[in-house]
Parts: sequence; C-alpha cells; structure tokens
Amino acid sequence: MQNDAPESRRPENRWFHLCMADDLATLNAFVTTRVGAVPLVAQNIKGRVVAFRNVCTHRFAVIHSEPAGCGPLRCPYHGWSFDADGVPVGLPFNPTDFQLEAEGRRRLALHPAALARCGRLVFVRMAADGPSLEEELGAALFARLAALSDAFPRRGAALEPEDDWERIDAANLRIHQAPDGALVLHSAAPAGADSRFSRTVTLYPATAPITADAEQPA
Ligand code: FES
Repeated sequence: MQNDAPESRRPENRWFHLCMADDLATLNAFVTTRVGAVPLVAQNIKGRVVAFRNVCTHRFAVIHSEPAGCGPLRCPYHGWSFDADGVPVGLPFNPTDFQLEAEGRRRLALHPAALARCGRLVFVRMAADGPSLEEELGAALFARLAALSDAFPRRGAALEPEDDWERIDAANLRIHQAPDGALVLHSAAPAGADSRFSRTVTLYPATAPITADAEQPA
C-alpha cells in the first residue's frame, strides 16, 4: 500500500509514548507495542533499557506476545535469547543445529528501535535514526511533560477525566490534569496496533494521600 504522508509524518518515523520509566525499572521487564505491522519491544536487560523490533532474526517469530511482562528476551520457538545489543547469545543446540560463531551471531542481531525519555515518560520510534523526541515535540512541550511526569510519581486509583480538566496532547499521548492535582495519561495504540496496546494510568503527586488498596499497576 502506497504511503503518501510526508516522510517525517510516516508512522515509522514518529515517536510514540510507550509507558512510564518505572514499567521498565526491574530486570527483564518489557513493554511491547506495534507500529503498523511491526512489533516493537522495550526491555530492561541487565539494567540497560533498550528497544528493538520484537521479531526474532532466526525465523522472524514475534518474541514477546504480551503487551507487558517480565522475562528474558528469548524467542519462544527455538529459544534464542538476545543481549542488550540485540545479539543472540544463548542458542540451544548451536553446535549441532546453527553453528553460528560470534560474527555470524552479530549479523543476526535484532533490528534496533529508538528509545527516548522525557522525564518519566518513555517513547519509542521504529526508525533507529531521526530527529530527537525533543525536536519532534518542541522544547516547551518537552519541558512541560518532563516536569509534569516528575511531579506526579505515584500510581493510584483510576480517575475518569472530566470536561473541564486541562488537556495536553503530545504524540499519541493525551494527558488530563485534574484541578486538585492528579494526572490521567492515556496512550492511544499507534496506527495499525490493536487496542490492547493502548494504556491508561492515573498519577498522583508524591504527597497526595492515597490509600494502600488504591495502588495498582497501569
Ligand atoms: S524463530 Fe526465533 S529462535 Fe527460531
């Protein structure tokens, strides 16, 4: 299908909000999405948070099929696992089945995707190279989002945005701010992705009184 959009507006060249930084803070935590038909994954590998196409370079299977979770970056089919550079490092039966030396494994590294943070917000882009997130959003909006995300560090009970709340739109992210101090962040699934890749989280200031049973994951 022909894509007539200007190159900079094509989905593969755009940044998409993926998750909060704390979603990727623990070892092996991952969050996935799709841009068009291409699956992407951001993952914590030994403390490094990196992003790749979520597609195994052996036989092109999707590696992580869940929207989020915790587990090594390991293909479910023949068990190849990948390091933080995307290089397959654990290949069961390599001596008999694949016989890949270091150079061969490097050639089969996962395709990198771009990853950027704005405060505690994590964005991904399918294209590894291109304008920075700050360039795409503009310096003023970038600074505002960073400050807001840092000022509302706690997840809490979900709120329904009301019509008179302030609204901020940035990429696929829509933020509603309640007058008395709470943020509702809704990340729409990128074009071509189904709704399980949309995410909503309600954030509160560090000092807000939130009952323990109101704490919940995104
Ligand atoms: S398809 Fe992934 S290891 Fe074979």
